[in-house]
Amino acid sequence: MADIQIFEGALDKGLEGVVACSTAVSSIQDATLSYRGFTIEDLAANSTFEETVFLLWNNRLPKAPELESFKKQLAAEYTLAPAFIQVLKTIPTKNVHPMAWLRTAVSLMAHWDGEANDNSNEANLRKGIKLVAKMGTLVAAFEAIRNGKEPVAPKSDKSIAWNFMYMLKGGVEPKADHVKIFDTCLILHADHELNCSAFATRVTTSSLSDLYSAIVSAIGALKGPLHGGANEQVMIMLKRIGTIEKAQAFVKDALSAKEKVMGIGHRVYKNGDPRAALLRKISDKLTADKGEHHWYQMSTLIDDTMYKEKGLMPNVDFYSATVYYSMDIPIDIYTPIFAVSRISGWVAHAMEQYANNRIYRPRGKWTGKTGQKWSPAASRQ
Ligand code: COA
Repeated sequence: MADIQIFEGALDKGLEGVVACSTAVSSIQDATLSYRGFTIEDLAANSTFEETVFLLWNNRLPKAPELESFKKQLAAEYTLAPAFIQVLKTIPTKNVHPMAWLRTAVSLMAHWDGEANDNSNEANLRKGIKLVAKMGTLVAAFEAIRNGKEPVAPKSDKSIAWNFMYMLKGGVEPKADHVKIFDTCLILHADHELNCSAFATRVTTSSLSDLYSAIVSAIGALKGPLHGGANEQVMIMLKRIGTIEKAQAFVKDALSAKEKVMGIGHRVYKNGDPRAALLRKISDKLTADKGEHHWYQMSTLIDDTMYKEKGLMPNVDFYSATVYYSMDIPIDIYTPIFAVSRISGWVAHAMEQYANNRIYRPRGKWTGKTGQKWSPAASRQ
């Protein structure tokens, strides 16, 4: 049988511009981010995270009773089983990044789910509900456990955003405006076409492995500083710069040293990430309210300087950093927050992949040696 045709010239490091699958989950066409045809501006202004999850999974907005029922299904799954919490307490937290801990915790979650290996649509929807409902509970449990405290139990009559802030702060009721802003952040991070972690989800799904395995792959991909890990790096960078006066020089030095300025640049958006525009406004207001407007001012100076020097603009991770910082969220929890939201998109991508599957199996262009001959170890030079 003849070898399958390889498209010469198609080699593109990082698969830039390569269309790897069809999708109807979210689109970034014409620099507009939309979920199932609804722009994120519309959803951020009017929707809730729970409603957005329903939209991503069902390709339509829920009717009022459907939304109520969906929220109840989620709330029924917020809690972690006591036996699971006991095991979570045994995972080391010292010198462990929260994303690494979360990756392990989600992998362990599968062992408490009798349907873990069932790839039917119905079972995957039930698993999706568990994953969305528990992701925030897990991240908050990590924060409690690493501080030697007991994880706070979620409240079933409250939203995912409310509960996350409540549990993370050790059972202190969050401010209503913070809950609203956090819910908006969850909406803005929910999905983003074929980003690195969505692709990782789909690659693992395409072998017909189970949903938990796909999500563990996705968490691993999101953790990296070129993807979701950038939001944490932005705040570390701002703190390292320290004062507004030093910001411009920092950017210029980074560029001449060919170092990346975190939270800036994007593979697809060359004229600005629409999420960054929304988060910039929130950052402006929140930092001012907190009496720490200098973080926003420093950010805008870096943003302007990067544009002038390199023509690059901020991505979603740039202004979300100061938004979370203003709400007193620990810096290394920023990327786990991304996972608390993006789990909704990952599940939608997995479901879409299962429904129209072909295993991902690209080719590599061979650049290694050929015709090597084995010789005994004693005679090797
Ligand atoms: N700081 C400095 N220079 C940057 C940059 C950044 N944040 N992002 C891109 N560039 C430069 C590259 O060095 C390259 O310059 P050159 O042409 O002079 O060599 C050029 O812009 C193209 O960048 P490239 O790395 O090829 O883009 P990409 O499409 O492969 O990568 C990102 C996209 C997002 C990974 C990249 O912009 C980046 O690393 N940003 C910082 C990390 C980040 O914020 N990630 C979150 C993404 S949502």
